[in-house]
Amino acid sequence: MTKIFGHRGAAGHFPENTMLSFQAAYECGADGIELDVHKSKDGELVVIHDEKINRTTNGKGYVKDHTYDELKSFNAAVKWPEYSFQVIPRLEDVLEWIAKKPLYLNIELKNNVLFYRDIEEKLVRLLRKHKLTEQIILSSFNHDSMLKIARTNPEYEVALLLSDKMHRPWEYANRLNVNAIHPKWYHVNKRYLQRSRQYNVTVRPYTVNRTNMMKQLILNGCDALITDLPDKAVKLRDELLLH
Ligand code: G3P
Ligand code: CA
Repeated sequence: MTKIFGHRGAAGHFPENTMLSFQAAYECGADGIELDVHKSKDGELVVIHDEKINRTTNGKGYVKDHTYDELKSFNAAVKWPEYSFQVIPRLEDVLEWIAKKPLYLNIELKNNVLFYRDIEEKLVRLLRKHKLTEQIILSSFNHDSMLKIARTNPEYEVALLLSDKMHRPWEYANRLNVNAIHPKWYHVNKRYLQRSRQYNVTVRPYTVNRTNMMKQLILNGCDALITDLPDKAVKLRDELLLH
């Protein structure tokens, strides 16, 4: 059964990467959530998509140039007047919230533009502190970073994020000893899924919002899909499974 992962929570209907958005994804029956992580000036892992806070909050500048105390004063729901003030969460807040929930957590390290020093070590320390392993899937466009974690902490599942159309990505994953890839949705078709399965590579495409693509992936037995609209995807999957 295809698992449904809410992208940045339920970013189609709620301010992305906020507790409000994560709670919404959980309540609509998603199997997991995806979020993005950067590091603040004072070394806190914070949940936000861009290197800068300009697009999603009422603040300005780089995440890395603000302490968490400063970051938490900005409104992460500024583009959503229908919602009250939302704080930029710390990763730790999400770990506490998710710990007892039957939800996967896909943590995307945003370390492919800025290379945050020791972000992998900091992340592993936090996961250990909260005793989280099975629920966790780590991903990044920075494959060196994922390999570093896979080598030092093989208890965590790591996934390679792919944005370009790659030649035989399942072979690339096998060669790196990684068993999951997160490709762009429009690169994935039935054959892509079959080949990946033959190579024991799990596929979780992003960001799948179109009904037809959701349908195709579910009917072709895709492992999971990452969507801004987890409510729609859960409903569709459950309907398709009934028939
Ligand atoms: O993790 C899947 C997807 O979120 C990667 O792209 O830019 O939405 O973080 P982006
Ligand atoms: Ca992401």
